[in-house]
Amino acid sequence: MILIIDFGSQFNQLIARRVRECQVYCQIEAPTITIDQIKNINPKGIILSGGPASIYEANSPKADTGIFDLGIPILGICYGMQFMMDSLGGKVKCAQKREYGFAELQIERQNGIFDNVASPNQVWMSHGDSIEQLPSDFVITASTANTAIAAADNDQKRFYGLQFHPEVEHTRKGTQMIRHFLVDICGCKGNWTMNSFSKHAMDQVRESVGDGHVILGLSGGVDSSVTALLIHKAIGDRLTCIFVDNGLLRKNEAEKLRQKFQNHLNINIRFVNAAKLFLDAISGVSDPEEKRKIIGKIFMDVFEAEAQKIENAEFLAQGTLYPDIIESQSAFGGPTAVIKSHHNVGGLPEFMKLKLVEPLKYLFKDEVRKLGKELGLDDELIWRQPFPGPGLAIRVIGEVTEKRLAILREADAVLLDEIREQGYYKKLWQSFAVLLPIKSVGIMGDGRTYENIVAIRAVTSKDAMTADWARLPHKFLAKISNRIINEVRGINRVVYDISSKPPSTIEWE
Ligand code: XMP
Repeated sequence: MILIIDFGSQFNQLIARRVRECQVYCQIEAPTITIDQIKNINPKGIILSGGPASIYEANSPKADTGIFDLGIPILGICYGMQFMMDSLGGKVKCAQKREYGFAELQIERQNGIFDNVASPNQVWMSHGDSIEQLPSDFVITASTANTAIAAADNDQKRFYGLQFHPEVEHTRKGTQMIRHFLVDICGCKGNWTMNSFSKHAMDQVRESVGDGHVILGLSGGVDSSVTALLIHKAIGDRLTCIFVDNGLLRKNEAEKLRQKFQNHLNINIRFVNAAKLFLDAISGVSDPEEKRKIIGKIFMDVFEAEAQKIENAEFLAQGTLYPDIIESQSAFGGPTAVIKSHHNVGGLPEFMKLKLVEPLKYLFKDEVRKLGKELGLDDELIWRQPFPGPGLAIRVIGEVTEKRLAILREADAVLLDEIREQGYYKKLWQSFAVLLPIKSVGIMGDGRTYENIVAIRAVTSKDAMTADWARLPHKFLAKISNRIINEVRGINRVVYDISSKPPSTIEWE
């Protein structure tokens, strides 16, 4: 295992990705991690990440310098390198020329990190400060036109510094450099696979839960489904899932989920049909944030009431993923503006007094999918597009009524049927229908109609932070429009949303 200390660089998740690609397990921790905690984790090596600060600023982040006495290899990247050199007696200064973008790296010693990397090699730089003077026991191993000390090491102590970013794709052979550090220098075996992760995660669940009982809110999304399956395999019947049907789900969703989890996977599930409660509570409400807040609160109430019926429940499992954790604890992650309140992020109400079990908390989304496959979950669940907690309530724009929900549900089902049929489901991040709160005039047969408008939203994205509208072929869009207008009563017009995120968001509310 490799420890990555997070000094706030935007590329930190990429470092973790690269390490995992080398099949080595890693964890990102804040610089405040204590030396005892590090000893406890017992890493084979440490990577100090980049970051936006200057080492000579008073409040710049610093890790415990005791890491340099642990006798394990350390790789400092950008700010991480500057922190290393500063801590060990070198000097960092504000560079005369900031270096940002591509640079040619002249390698002076082609061993260690640079083993088999030809010189010059294209690298990606992004720094305002530079090392002016190395600690006395370090030597320069590479330079660029602007940066005399672009890489340096103390081979004997196994300390390495890179001023450029090996983790970004623009750096040629960057992953190879990281692999040299992990395998040749730290002695990692590179045998971390989903199979070994899955066994390890199950052992950990057994260890932390003992003979206690766990409850889990199952939504049918990939994260909660994989969490459920993993815990079920670890502790069997001592897991109880709670599925709250809020009446805001897609067509046949609740039934499909019941069949899969209860009948095929044999997992204990309590289904709570709370549709009326939710619909009554949002009746007459058209403000999006108000809708979200009401739905979030009722969900908590219903979940809690059901959880209290489960005797001996001491643990609550959640499908929290690594990016959530990194974002919430990033060294420099200031409070971001609340654009939409996501009711299922934000943890437990105080009174529940349950201990958290989060077996996926060190995985990225694609790794969760691999784990799902490893555990035997079928493709349909593994590749499910994300679906928001407040469900169709935020896709019926304006006031939500049963009638309007029913119209949207039908249109959405036709859309998804076509998307699946034409092989687009997996290629799109999300595809869904939105019911607009205005009517328009149309003509059907020989008569005038005055009916609803449905908007189709189909986007591509890597992580939902940014998204682009999908360039679906016109012929395909025509077929979708035609089918929806013909098959769904109450709709006489279909429009296609051609906005990207930002400035729009994926959901309309
Ligand atoms: P936006 O609309 O903010 O959405 O671009 C980004 C992603 O988050 C999903 N989303 C939610 N997911 N609970 C969720 O679990 C929510 O309340 C929620 N609101 C939005 C949205 O579908 C997209 O994938």
